[in-house]
Amino acid sequence: MLEKFKNEPLIDFTKQENIDKMEEAFKKLDVEKGKEYPLIIGGEKIYTDEKITSYNPCNFKEIIGIVSKGNEELADKSMCSALEAFEMWKNVCPKERANYLFKAAAIMRRKKFDFSALLVEEAGKTWIEADADVAEAIDFLEYYGRQMLKFAKGMDVGSFPGEINECYYIPMGVGIVIAPWNFPLAILTGMTAASIVTGNTVVIKPSSSTPVVAAKFMEIWDEIKLPDGVINYLPGPGESVGNYLVSHPKTRFINFTGSKDVGLNISKMASDIKDGQKCIKRVIAEMGGKDTIIVDNEADLDAAAEGIVASAFGFQGQKCSACSRAIIVEDIYDEMIDKIVEKTKKLKIGPTRKFDTNFGAVIDENAYEKILTYIEIGRNEGKICFGGNKCGESGYFIEPTIIVDVSPDARISQEEIFGPVLSVIKVDNFDCALNIANDTDYGLTGAVYSNNRQKLEKAKREFHVGNLYLNRKCTGALVGVQPFGGFKLSGTCSKAGGEDYLLLFMEIKSVAERL
Ligand code: NAD
Ligand code: ALA
Repeated sequence: MLEKFKNEPLIDFTKQENIDKMEEAFKKLDVEKGKEYPLIIGGEKIYTDEKITSYNPCNFKEIIGIVSKGNEELADKSMCSALEAFEMWKNVCPKERANYLFKAAAIMRRKKFDFSALLVEEAGKTWIEADADVAEAIDFLEYYGRQMLKFAKGMDVGSFPGEINECYYIPMGVGIVIAPWNFPLAILTGMTAASIVTGNTVVIKPSSSTPVVAAKFMEIWDEIKLPDGVINYLPGPGESVGNYLVSHPKTRFINFTGSKDVGLNISKMASDIKDGQKCIKRVIAEMGGKDTIIVDNEADLDAAAEGIVASAFGFQGQKCSACSRAIIVEDIYDEMIDKIVEKTKKLKIGPTRKFDTNFGAVIDENAYEKILTYIEIGRNEGKICFGGNKCGESGYFIEPTIIVDVSPDARISQEEIFGPVLSVIKVDNFDCALNIANDTDYGLTGAVYSNNRQKLEKAKREFHVGNLYLNRKCTGALVGVQPFGGFKLSGTCSKAGGEDYLLLFMEIKSVAERL
């Protein structure tokens, strides 16, 4: 009997035995650094001449791994392999498909520390952020497996005299999974697991910044002997490999998580019907955010400062859910800034391999340059009251940066920076705060700190974000508890980790038989 879903517990790093396990995992990883990983197409391991080299963002001289690089020819081969495997996989019963997810979850749980160590070194996550990423990946496998068992029963329909009527969910075809680097295990696992448990086959294109995590993810499916071709692993440049797969006439759906510009472009490309195309492609696109925390004058200011610092600077602000704007009511504005600065000062910056580091480097040179450019823009759009500098020689380190007195229409108030930069905006009152919070292209997460019930209720009605948090931080949605996905140009609001997510990957067939 399958146990009811429950979220994977987080590792308690106050226990020495867990610290030892993590150190052990780092040592194992050190031995593997620089290893080469193949593409996997139809179960075949393919080593190409062209490679993607993955570096440690906290120490960019250190190579984490070297991964073969896909091209259009190999993208075509992947598509053929996925199409062929679909003819078999679509007939595998949902229970068996779900069992593959449960087995994958068990292996991931067994390799938890190995994955966490890799996430620390390849993505620059702290131990705690890395563990949360692995736990979320396990949650997706366990949750979607169970959801599929429910959908396998079909949809309830009414009766009609003299007929048998039924309605059931069927797979769609070949999907393309295009994943970001910031939750390199959790998001890739969630998007892939949902796609295959529903009977589809996929080509997955991980981000070029974290391809080794994806290669290790593939080793799990190999270990549990998932049939060849169900998941095809094709790292490569988004502009060539990604575009080719998105435009392919046989692509049935695209499951994308990443930036707004790339997501919107995919949506446009996917709507262009190609010669030989027989279906309208479905696009699931979860994109960026410009997420706001509002602090009302009737709030617990310490809790608010804690929530803002955790949401703005956790994983160096590189979460779609990160708080990049704090909107503060004027009566408490100065006091709040002091509290936010006070807590930010306590963050320890450095290589995340050390457990006591709680603020690492940003992912790569592009991100580093982009964030520093935004900080320069911010110098003219407000006043830097903390941080504002690069730091450290060997990694992409940027100080957590707080810019105050920013206008709501400034570029740093409107554009996603995706780094450790918090813009602080002063407002007259709560209603103003709400209007400004809603006035961006995005609608992903948001939070309100207030002890006033009416204001909280108003936020529930009018703060237009997919994930709203009251009196808590705006990051860290839990699978099955806070289904995650945004409004407006943040995405298609697919609600990953929610009860109806799997419906996006199936069609519904209604059958009536006259007796
Ligand atoms: P990105 O858009 O640069 O890349 C995402 C993926 O798309 C990568 O695999 C990339 O190689 C691929 N890609 C790039 N160009 C492509 C193209 N032309 N065609 C097809 N694929 C292409 O994003 P990123 O830097 O990896 O991730 C950060 C972004 O992701 C941020 O904007 C963040 O807010 C967003 N994000 C959103 C969510 C969410 O759930 N809403 C979650 C995580 C990250
Ligand atoms: N799902 C992640 C969070 O909620 C992005 O922070």
